[in-house]
Amino acid sequence: MTLSPGIRFLGRTLFAPTCLFFLLQALVIHPKYGLGIPVWKAPIVALLVLVAFLVGRNVLTQVYHARAANAMGARLVPRAQGTWPGSVDLLQTLLKAARTGYLGDSFAGLVQSLGSPVINIRVLWEDKIFAVSPEHIQIILATDFKNYVKGKHFCSMMESVLGNGVFNSDGDMWSFHRSMTRPFFARDRFEHFEIFHRHTDTVIAHIKSRMAEGYAVDFQDLISRLTMDSATEFLFGSCVDSLACTPPYPHNASMKRSLNDSPRAQAANAFTEAYGEAMHQISLRQRLGWAWPLFEMFEDKTAKPMEVVTKYIDPLIEAALNKKLAEEKDMVYSSEDSCLLDELMKSTSDPKLLKDEIINILIGDTTMSVLTNVIYLLSSSPAVTARLREEILAVVGPTGPPTYDDIKQMKYLRAVLNETLRLFPPVPFNIRQPLNSTIWPSPDPNEKPLYIPGGTTIMYSVMLMQRRPDLWGPDAHLFDPERFLDQRVQKYNSHSFKFLPFNAGPRICLGQQFAYNEMSFVIIRLLQNFASMTLDVDACPPDARVPTEWSGQPGRKGIEKCVPRMHLTLYTQGGLWVKMEDAKAADA
Ligand code: HEM
Ligand SMILES: *[C@@H]1O[C@H](CO)[C@@H](O)[C@H](O)[C@H]1NC(C)=O
Ligand SMILES: *[C@@H]1O[C@H](CO)[C@@H](O)[C@H](O)[C@H]1NC(C)=O
Ligand SMILES: *[C@@H]1O[C@H](CO)[C@@H](O)[C@H](O)[C@H]1NC(C)=O
Repeated sequence: MTLSPGIRFLGRTLFAPTCLFFLLQALVIHPKYGLGIPVWKAPIVALLVLVAFLVGRNVLTQVYHARAANAMGARLVPRAQGTWPGSVDLLQTLLKAARTGYLGDSFAGLVQSLGSPVINIRVLWEDKIFAVSPEHIQIILATDFKNYVKGKHFCSMMESVLGNGVFNSDGDMWSFHRSMTRPFFARDRFEHFEIFHRHTDTVIAHIKSRMAEGYAVDFQDLISRLTMDSATEFLFGSCVDSLACTPPYPHNASMKRSLNDSPRAQAANAFTEAYGEAMHQISLRQRLGWAWPLFEMFEDKTAKPMEVVTKYIDPLIEAALNKKLAEEKDMVYSSEDSCLLDELMKSTSDPKLLKDEIINILIGDTTMSVLTNVIYLLSSSPAVTARLREEILAVVGPTGPPTYDDIKQMKYLRAVLNETLRLFPPVPFNIRQPLNSTIWPSPDPNEKPLYIPGGTTIMYSVMLMQRRPDLWGPDAHLFDPERFLDQRVQKYNSHSFKFLPFNAGPRICLGQQFAYNEMSFVIIRLLQNFASMTLDVDACPPDARVPTEWSGQPGRKGIEKCVPRMHLTLYTQGGLWVKMEDAKAADA
């Protein structure tokens, strides 16, 4: 039996104060050596002393940082604070905004009200530096990479799901995982097109049959099944077949989802749902900060979903390991191309390590989020859709699958993808922790540089950065792929770190090329088959739709027709319900 995160947390952090508490109690009660305070009053006195101790420590830390900043010729980062102790009110506002507000607005609001692109959001007595500038993000990811780690705090939060995989490790462990994974991505993996081809055709068939029934289809659901099936196929060599399920119907449709899916399809469904639930739980932890274990007093909330995930993955790993053993025994090696699991097994046969790596890479695959948003943005930009289709028909033609070289020469398609990645980067917010205290250049050149205390949590948002009007122009909130083709990308600001959907530096996304190829392939096939798409807001569950009070608000909030949300990565609340027009009918 393992202890819950809450109990472990209390054991670890409260051990010293609890001892102190009992020692103090003994002292104040003792008639001769102590104060001789009556027994019933002792806990109150001890508690007061303890609180005084914590407050004192807090004040001293702050004095220490103020002096350290001074000594480095720097100033403290402007601070956002609530009015209640520990800024509990601010925390509450932030948590509520994460559930019901427009993504990132609460942070953007604080940045604006403090007039600084670097702020310190201090809640529960913990500093959290928040950054949205290319020059600071460049320091974190590239120029001073060694000083910025994901950190113990972050890794322990994620560990019950991500283990020690490439996303969730630092230092030597990370180097090991990265070098273990990299060879797989180093080669031009053209053969994957075969995998995408089959699964994309299945998706297209699903959409066509739904259209024939007269219902909208949840594109996000279909495309996440497509990425799950493609990813598992190239990771394990066999796919989970989640596309074998009947896709969901609109909330008010009389047709309901069939419960007669095959056991295999149901298992895939259960796996996909459990996986999503685990993601959701670790993102909640991230919002709660250091206090997260207190919300998991009685159970590890990721344990149940991870049990389902593990039950699904373990047999796949075991089968792969057995196959490898058999091959070694018979000295026959399948010379044909290997899946990632085969590749990883060149470095290790530890099932736990293999499982961690596989789960990490499943998470890394965020193409589903981008493809969903491409379709979302195209559905309200018929002119862009038409132009993109023109390019596709000109380069690839109306039916055949694209080749690698086709994709490489399609400039407009790449611009559409980039523009989607700019507005909706799948990893909108990220976290790092500086090992040593350091200073950052001041955003305002007339002021002293900023002091960044070692060990603080630093959050940075590429999403907010990629929507900043001062970096991208006054129309930064509008979808306009043209900006990547004319001179506008450079016009307002030419910092090379202002567009970072895949991160940068030594931890840049390993799957970037893979992702561009997969996304391009799917979009080309879709637009060969469908001439246009429209959003069907009515098909979306009413409680997931855009709140009426958003309309007319500045920025994207005022024009959004769907609600973007994030757990670790971006998704569309309630799904993306669209109707698509068959190309044959349109072109006839
Ligand atoms: C459009 C799709 C994708 C986007 C926008 C994206 C974005 C990112 C970002 C922002 C990171 C950095 C995370 C961090 O350090 O905190 C990352 C890392 C990574 N990505 Fe991707 N990714 C995409 C697709 C993929 C795919 C398809 C794969 C693999 C199949 C993949 C594999 C990885 C791996 C292994 C890392 C870890 C690198 C490391 O920490 O050293 N990504 N990705
Ligand atoms: C942190 O500071 C210590 C002592 O000055 C130094 O030895 C170490 O290399 C620094 N670490 C990083 C990652 O910069
Ligand atoms: C579902 O709602 C839409 C829009 O309100 C409506 O057009 C459609 O007829 C409804 N379908 C059913 C089966 O009620
Ligand atoms: C899209 O972004 C990538 C990555 O930053 C860049 O290399 C490429 O030139 C861009 N392409 C277009 C057409 O915007």
